[in-house]
Amino acid sequence: MNLTIQKSSVVRNVAARTAPQSSAIELRSATKRFGEKTVLHALDLAVQPGEFLAIVGRSGCGKSTLLRLLAGLDDATAGEVTIDNGRVRGVSQGTRIMFQEHRLLPWRTLLQNVGLGMHGEWQPIARKALEQVGLGERGDDWPSMLSGGQRQRVALARALVHDPRLLLLDEPLGALDALTRIEMQNLIEGLWQKKGFTVVLITHDVDEAIALADRVVLLEGGRVGMDIRVNMSRPRHRSSTTFGELTEQVLNRVLQRTEEPSRSMRNGVSSLK
Ligand SMILES: Nc1ncnc2c1ncn2[C@@H]1O[C@H](COP(=O)(O)OP(=O)(O)O)[C@@H](O)[C@H]1O
Ligand SMILES: [Mg+2]
Repeated sequence: MNLTIQKSSVVRNVAARTAPQSSAIELRSATKRFGEKTVLHALDLAVQPGEFLAIVGRSGCGKSTLLRLLAGLDDATAGEVTIDNGRVRGVSQGTRIMFQEHRLLPWRTLLQNVGLGMHGEWQPIARKALEQVGLGERGDDWPSMLSGGQRQRVALARALVHDPRLLLLDEPLGALDALTRIEMQNLIEGLWQKKGFTVVLITHDVDEAIALADRVVLLEGGRVGMDIRVNMSRPRHRSSTTFGELTEQVLNRVLQRTEEPSRSMRNGVSSLK
């Protein structure tokens, strides 16, 4: 009897890190042009199921464009974008995206915002999603009653309520103050560990990328300029030597510095904005 229970819990744990909870992504020679301007140049990129990938790069280098292709909000001009070996055609149920702006409807309660578009017995499911982001008691409140960080929590709940296999995050914490940001990072990391979905996080904050991601990709002029693994145990400590070295390595590459590599770190710079 005991053995059966143990066995089934092992199966569950393994399943939590593999399909269908998480999606595999593949871009093959993905190109995106707007008129004469080529924004993504024959991009090749594969993301494993359950992987936490961060994409960093200067403003205008094509990060959001890439995310829109993955979300099915826009089509590649040439090449292929596949999720779980299927070509992305329009918005898919298994993929959710979160932006820097919360995009909550001000005339709907938090619970209604989270349950938007759901049918049947949606309230308990939406309430549970609010609980997971620490706002279980606030379902009947209005978005205007919340702080910026709390609104982003609701936006996260709205994405998670659909049990996504792929969570796309386009600088979702960009407008938050430093402490709220770290709280949100911890929340996202915890939920990702628990649920096992794949994450693609765009951030201008190299520190955030190193704190959260298994792997950091630098986009440069629509091409992959750098692709590094972050082999550090979690939770990660910003004060560790490895953390500092990795942050510096990425920043140096972004800023193309060859001399005095420690200067920006001494000045506390870790943002690409
Ligand atoms: N719909 C569009 N039409 C024309 N140009 C666009 C469009 N979307 C993005 N671009 C251009 O593509 C480039 C990359 O944009 P974007 O992906 O938003 O950059 P990032 O998110 O890295 O800051 C920019 O030069 C931007 O002006
Ligand atoms: Mg962008």
